[in-house]
Amino acid sequence: MSERIRFENISKVFPGTIALDDVSFSIKRGEIHAIVGANGAGKSTLMNILGGQYKNDQGKVFIDGKQLAITNPDHSRRAGIAVVYQELKLCDNLTVVENVFLGNELRKKSGGMDWKKMRAEAAKILKAFKIDVGVNEMLSDLTIGKKQLVEIAKAVCLAANIIIFDEPTSSLSMKEVKILFDIIKDLKSKGLTILFISHRMGEVFEISDRITVLRDGKWVGTFNSARVNSDQIVDMIAGKELSAFLKSKSIEKRTFAKVILEVDGISKKKLYKNVSLKLYEGEILGIYGLQGAGRTELIQTIFGLLRPDEGKIKVWGKNIIALKTKQRIDLGIAMVPEDRKGSGLFQNMTVGENIISAIPQGVEKLGLIQKGRLQSIAGDLIKNVKIKTYGVKQNIEKLSGGNQQKVIIAKWLAKKPKVFLLDEISRGIDVGSKAEIFKMMQALRKQGMSVIMVSSEIDEILAECDRTLIMRQGEIISEFNRAEMVKKRMVAQAMGFEDEEL
Ligand SMILES: Nc1ncnc2c1ncn2[C@@H]1O[C@H](COP(=O)(O)OP(=O)(O)OP(=O)(O)O)[C@@H](O)[C@H]1O
Ligand SMILES: [Mg+2]
Repeated sequence: MSERIRFENISKVFPGTIALDDVSFSIKRGEIHAIVGANGAGKSTLMNILGGQYKNDQGKVFIDGKQLAITNPDHSRRAGIAVVYQELKLCDNLTVVENVFLGNELRKKSGGMDWKKMRAEAAKILKAFKIDVGVNEMLSDLTIGKKQLVEIAKAVCLAANIIIFDEPTSSLSMKEVKILFDIIKDLKSKGLTILFISHRMGEVFEISDRITVLRDGKWVGTFNSARVNSDQIVDMIAGKELSAFLKSKSIEKRTFAKVILEVDGISKKKLYKNVSLKLYEGEILGIYGLQGAGRTELIQTIFGLLRPDEGKIKVWGKNIIALKTKQRIDLGIAMVPEDRKGSGLFQNMTVGENIISAIPQGVEKLGLIQKGRLQSIAGDLIKNVKIKTYGVKQNIEKLSGGNQQKVIIAKWLAKKPKVFLLDEISRGIDVGSKAEIFKMMQALRKQGMSVIMVSSEIDEILAECDRTLIMRQGEIISEFNRAEMVKKRMVAQAMGFEDEEL
């Protein structure tokens, strides 16, 4: 295979950060090349350089042996490169077809827009990829997973030679990941070159031909996927110490006595039916199931974002069904939502301001001393949760994707919640930080915090939860305590199979 892309001595400095430091490696024609590394390692920055969003300070990019000066997205597109960015670039108030052809509209001979043709083209692509979305649907009506698939269809539609996927799977369901992998394999068989970023080692090894590891902006190595294993890659991403900690980890079986939260027979039409559960003080309760099983809606209801048609929710024995979200927050309930962009962060504020934004008094009215104290709370959390930033004053938008997610977690941790609701908390978070965050969670649990953790990652559920409820089609269908938690059975139940069918 010949060389398609070569990075030569690429460096990129942002104020306070060396995002890329003398990076050189190459990507072969027709291969699927994974790029891995911790949050803030420089993966997206490198892809943004290739996509023309950022200009490198030093170094050269070669495409097919020719040096290419990419100074804007148009250059990149003309060189046959399409990028599926980590943060979706679609418009919520446009339809699917309008999004797919945005900036790239097809025109009739008369010069007018050829919507008929665009609709037909878009429908063809969606159908070919078995993406169950109508071309006239408003983007705002789609789930995050479907939006992601539309973005992917858009990139494919640009008929590029090189497609970059920056964490495409983080918001996809298991089924959607499979669709995406089929698309990627199909593109490869047509001779396209694929760059693929993910924090999930299973996926990286499943799909890639070679893997490049970046660490603190530096190139660590490029490996043939068949000749390294996941442990070796994790060592290179996170350092030996951490991967040893990950392997040694086990949680003892614990018993709990005091019920802190009780959900009693809540139903909401089309979303969930007759759901009851108890959460004990200090317990980490998992809710496992497929996307669309009603898990998100259930915890949104506990947080007060949705109102059930019937049933009760009690905290310390008191029915809170009539309370608004704000009042529930005052009671000590907190939630890290599934969609960090839509909810959770104040985009034009600093890292420090975001972290302390959930603490009751706010900052404005406080004196200098208290302000200083809050800043130091923020500073400690930045260290503990391992947020890569040059300081509390950095604007949140300048953080890498995974580090923004960590700010949301830190924000609620600063408030010391009693009941912490987590929806796919580790989305986009690297293996090392994930371990740190769960370490903190386990420590807070010992101080009485209780957690309900919705996750699609079974390994995460097995590692962290004291007890797990399986949800399917809006109902809780079974419960596993720690001793009973067996991966295969839980996955089978969530999917609606018998064990033997798996
Ligand atoms: N526009 C920017 N201004 C300032 N700093 C930036 C900007 N973009 C990225 N950075 C910084 O550069 C570093 C690398 O960020 P990058 O987004 O490339 O990381 P990443 O490897 O993609 O991480 P993640 O896995 O979290 O997505 C980070 O420290 C980030 O804060
Ligand atoms: Mg990134």
